[in-house]
Amino acid sequence: MILNEESIRRIKEKAAKYPRRKSAILPAITVAYRQVGHLNDDIYREISRIINIPYVEIAEAATFYTLFPKKPVGKYLIQVCHNISCALMGADSLVTYLEEKLSVRKGETTDDGLFTLISVECLGSCSTAPMMQINQDYYENLTRERVDQIIDDLKAKA
Ligand code: FES
Repeated sequence: MILNEESIRRIKEKAAKYPRRKSAILPAITVAYRQVGHLNDDIYREISRIINIPYVEIAEAATFYTLFPKKPVGKYLIQVCHNISCALMGADSLVTYLEEKLSVRKGETTDDGLFTLISVECLGSCSTAPMMQINQDYYENLTRERVDQIIDDLKAKA
């Protein structure tokens, strides 16, 4: 078992709230992701057993959303939006800057395990482009100076 007792309890609790069990898929996936930090086939199977929904339906939902990593990631998952508003406001150069700053390529994790850098589709904060999400937090109206400050702050907290 990958999911701990607390996650199993929370998934069951969420599933009990919905008249249709399928409505519990995303909340269950979210609970699992917050415990483990990523998702995989074994986790889909566990969720499937817990809420009694076919594995394939859990996997379909989980793989649709890029916000759920499918392999282990660093302590801080940096998701830079690369969609149209952010692209027009310099998202590509921001990703390149982060690649240089962190000495990783997109999709990789730093050697110290602190940061994983990816780019993702629209995060729904287009009016504050360019922006990125790190774990659960949004960072908006980004500049290189602001990125430096954010990364420095996260390193100091680690
Ligand atoms: S285009 Fe980047 S948040 Fe929407």
